[in-house]
This record gives sequence, C-alpha cells and structure tokens, in this order.
Amino acid sequence: MWNYSAGLCRSTRHNLEVCALAEQYFTPSPTSGHERRTVRRRMCDGSELIFETDAGVFSKGRVDRGTRELIKAIRLEDGESFLDLGCGWGPVGITMAVSCPRSEVWMVDVNERACELARANARANGADRAVVVCGDGLLAVDGRKFDVIATNPPIRAGKSVVHRLVEEARDHLKPGGRFYAVARTKQGAGSLRAFIRETFGNADEPEIGGGYRVIRAVR
Ligand SMILES: C[S@@+](CC[C@H](N)C(=O)[O-])C[C@H]1O[C@@H](n2cnc3c(N)ncnc32)[C@H](O)[C@@H]1O
Repeated sequence: MWNYSAGLCRSTRHNLEVCALAEQYFTPSPTSGHERRTVRRRMCDGSELIFETDAGVFSKGRVDRGTRELIKAIRLEDGESFLDLGCGWGPVGITMAVSCPRSEVWMVDVNERACELARANARANGADRAVVVCGDGLLAVDGRKFDVIATNPPIRAGKSVVHRLVEEARDHLKPGGRFYAVARTKQGAGSLRAFIRETFGNADEPEIGGGYRVIRAVR
C-alpha cells in the first residue's frame, strides 16, 4: 500500500489502482465542500461551549473520545502558559482558555480550515485572547516556551510526523513543563509511550479509558 499525499492507493487483484482521494484531516488547504455542523460540550461547572465544525477537519461531528480523555487528564494552573499542538477546530485549547482565564493559550494547526474554525470558535466562546497560528508543528511559535503542551497527535500522518512533533514539544517546554498526548490503545499508544519515554526520560499514564491512553511526561 502506498501513501499518497492526500489519499491511500493500492493495487487490486485486477491490477487496478484504487485511489481513495478523500482528503486527510491534516491536508493544509482542504478543498472538500463545506458541511458545517454545531458541536456542544458541557463543562464541569455546567456551562456549555458551542463549536462550529466543517468537512475537511478532524472529527467534524463531535468531540473525539480521545480528545475528551485528553482534556480530562490535563492539569493546568490558571496563569500557566498552554499550547494545543494540532488544535483542529479547537476543543482542547478553547476548553483550557475558558477554564483558565489568566493563562496565555496558543493553538497551532497545519490545516487552514481548522485554524479558521478554531479562531471563530475561540471568539464565540469568549476566549478571543487565545492565539491561533497556522503552520507546521512548533515552527510557527518558535522562540516561545510553554508550561504545558498537549496534543491529540495526527497518528494518520505517520510516525515520522508524530515523533517530530513530540521532539519539538519537548524543546518548547519550560524546565518542569508537562507534555500530554493521547492515543488509542489499539492504534499505537504503547509505541508512542515508548517514544515519549525515550524523548523525555520519563512517561506515565494519568488517564486510561474508552480504549484510549493519555501519556504524560515532564521536561
Ligand atoms: C487527531 S487531530 C486532533 C485535532 C484536535 N486537537 C481535536 O482533538 O479534535 C490532529 C491535528 O493535528 C494537525 N496536524 C497534523 N500535522 C500537523 C503539523 N505538522 N503541524 C501542526 N498540526 C498538525 C491536524 O491537521 C489535526 O487537526
């Protein structure tokens, strides 16, 4: 099976090449037709966040189960700086920005459509001070260091991308800063944990549930 930039191709037994040209959620400039949806998420204090989502971005119809586990695991003190690495339409970063109003929150994604949604969602939920930057990994925030970095990583983009993001996250954490990543138990959580342990020299799992594992490491 070959990995095409935007789709997966394979040879069939009739020697035909079948290309599923559906865009991946990490395509920088999605061209798929719009399919706007509204997703609601209740916070612990009973208030509600409302998000607009669209086709061409990750988990357009709901907050992903892994993302929910990730949000549950993150410990952010109000006033600590936070980076949502691969923010999609913004559920992680915006939840943190609303929960910790004194924290400086940055959100980064390579997908332009996701970034536009995240910006609009931040405004709509009163988190306008969250900064959304479109770009590859930590390049866009180079020079900044954070207290906490969290990611639901783009597993489908492949190990080399995910591993690079983990290494860049380590390099953009303050000493003592925490890194959180979530992955499906059956989709490589074990090997991701091993790589994070190798990169940071430590790793534990503060949250395990619904077939997902959240891995935490300290710089
Ligand atoms: C699994 S999705 C998670 C999205 C969102 N955080 C959520 O939980 O719903 C991973 C995100 O990483 C983004 N991504 C992929 N490669 C990236 C890169 N090199 N730099 C920044 N973001 C990237 C994708 O576009 C996608 O939005």
